[in-house]
Amino acid sequence: MKTPFSRILYGGDYNPNQWPREIWDEDMRLFKKASINSVTINVFSWAKLQPNEETYDFSQLDEIVDMLSKENYEIVLATSTGAMPAWLVKNYPEVTRVDYEGRRHKFGQRHNHCPNSLVYQKYARQLALELAKRYGSNPHVVCWHISNEYNSACYCENCEKAFRIWLRKKYGSLEAVNQAWNTEFWGHTFYDWDEIVAPNALADGMSWNESKTAFAGISIDYCRFMSDSILENYKLERDAIRSVDPDTPITTNLMGTYKGLDYFKWAKEMDVVSWDNYPAYNTPWSLTAMRHDLMRGLKGKPFMLMEQTPSQQNWQDYNSLKRPGQMRAQSWQTIAHGADTIQFFQLRRSVGACEKFHGAVISHSGSAETRVFKEVSQLGAELAALGSQTLGAENPGEVGIIFDWENYWALEYTSGPTVDLKYEAQIHQYYRYFYEHHIPVDMIPIDADFSRYKVVVAPVLYMVKEGVAEALESFVANGGTVITGFMSGIVGQSDNVHLGGYPGPLRKMCGVWAEEIDALAPGQSNTLQFADGGQSKCGLLCDILHLEGAEALAEYSEDFYAGTPAVTKNSFGKGCVYYVGTMPDHGGLEKILDNMAETAGVLPLISETTELEIVCRKIEDREYWFILNLTGKPQPAPQTFAGETDILTGSAVGGQLEPFDALLVRR
Ligand code: GLA
Ligand code: ZN
Repeated sequence: MKTPFSRILYGGDYNPNQWPREIWDEDMRLFKKASINSVTINVFSWAKLQPNEETYDFSQLDEIVDMLSKENYEIVLATSTGAMPAWLVKNYPEVTRVDYEGRRHKFGQRHNHCPNSLVYQKYARQLALELAKRYGSNPHVVCWHISNEYNSACYCENCEKAFRIWLRKKYGSLEAVNQAWNTEFWGHTFYDWDEIVAPNALADGMSWNESKTAFAGISIDYCRFMSDSILENYKLERDAIRSVDPDTPITTNLMGTYKGLDYFKWAKEMDVVSWDNYPAYNTPWSLTAMRHDLMRGLKGKPFMLMEQTPSQQNWQDYNSLKRPGQMRAQSWQTIAHGADTIQFFQLRRSVGACEKFHGAVISHSGSAETRVFKEVSQLGAELAALGSQTLGAENPGEVGIIFDWENYWALEYTSGPTVDLKYEAQIHQYYRYFYEHHIPVDMIPIDADFSRYKVVVAPVLYMVKEGVAEALESFVANGGTVITGFMSGIVGQSDNVHLGGYPGPLRKMCGVWAEEIDALAPGQSNTLQFADGGQSKCGLLCDILHLEGAEALAEYSEDFYAGTPAVTKNSFGKGCVYYVGTMPDHGGLEKILDNMAETAGVLPLISETTELEIVCRKIEDREYWFILNLTGKPQPAPQTFAGETDILTGSAVGGQLEPFDALLVRR
């Protein structure tokens, strides 16, 4: 297979088809000036490539590919199937989606097809095949980009039929479905497969909140089914391309912690993971780091950063400019966490429609003298100087944090005990500790090989399917450390409770029984009294625990459950399990995780205290140390690196780092 990474791809989405020919020449000149070496083309050109059912017209794409090939760009070639042509919808209205409210969509927007439409599948597959036949052997085409940001769900009758088939395959019998979904509740018993309908707002979904449902078991199965259905769309195009192009890597651009698709399952079908990083003005840097680590974790390999904006977005509520230096620092953070490409959306700012205010390398002024263009050029020159040396480097870590899409769905569908429980935020609470302490983390799937880690972090492990508790137990028995806590071990694969007391199958290894779960409203809190002194606030949920072998590290000191354990530690085999029964404040969690890190023998990358982000990538006998100031304030340079060379600027590390300074030290 070709590798897309013979150099760091630097460039991004390019839409010359939206511009007159003279502009293309100017683009070529400006891209060179900014050290851009790669372009992603043909993302939304289906309507141009296929003016009607019978005709393909590749003349303009030929011209674009020729020009880019001559100029030696690495081309990421998209298949254009993320936006359907108007004629397709007019001729076959069933190709569009029926949304959560039950409305059949008309032509418009993009990402609007029914994944189970045979018509959509036929035309999308055919287009991908034609493209592969025409361009697959072009050595400049280094990567296929299928569709674009697959997302959302369809609730049409066609999908309902496909759902019934999916269910038959999964459960075998209607009795098994009725049992899995606990349909005795509210008299939901199904006597015929055709009685089953899609759980949207007109059925068992909730009209006021898409993430709530009367039957989580049905809705979770629908999520699994939708994720699989859309994945089939990807595979259809992938296989069509593969049938004529055996060599070029194939990807589709993912969206970090996007909820709708089980990306661990998806990644198995992708040659390389790519994703689009659009933090808002107030997204914590630790959250962005976590999303990068998750994208790296999907395959346990470096990834492509397919999109980021050089400056502002248009679609967020407040599209602030990236401050001077911010795009550079964000890009180095991306590479630090495992990216082997830096690509922008987009290279030239559109003249019309909803993305005309979206940041781009070339602004509406057309000038190379803009702040953004100069910053893009500076980064381009640095990446060119770095060359290929970091490509393929790994981010080894001793801590694995479980991220599991089925838990994501289940936890947020469940009704009670609080509406404030959000999966990503809970995982991030824990991730942030390791980020702040310079302890590298792998984001891992629920079926990972835990034995590679010293610590496995499993907050809100609400759904524990068959085999999961056993795998965690054997990891701990062999000396591993697990940390889990409230809303864990509660249900099985269909959202039915593991009877016998929470945390169900995790109870033995945790050495605690959670008898009741109190929900605290915003503004309410309890206080944790630590056994070794010190107090901190806690809230959100408070498990009322009984010790069954574990020791209490902290107790509640307020309300009717004052004096009962809140945070515990249990020896189990050669290892131990921490159970955090409430959400401590930042200091409280810090104290618990300090204790855990010491017990498990997990060390930070550097021993001195610093607010800088420190990340290390390794390849062969070389180490690349990224030192980033994302704190908004000047910070002293770490002593650990004093006098060593920052290979980005050639200067010695010392003094202080200004906000958004980024250094790279090679050892
Ligand atoms: C997404 C899409 C792009 C573009 C950007 C704008 O990531 O993939 O086509 O619309 O958003 O931020
Ligand atoms: Zn559908």
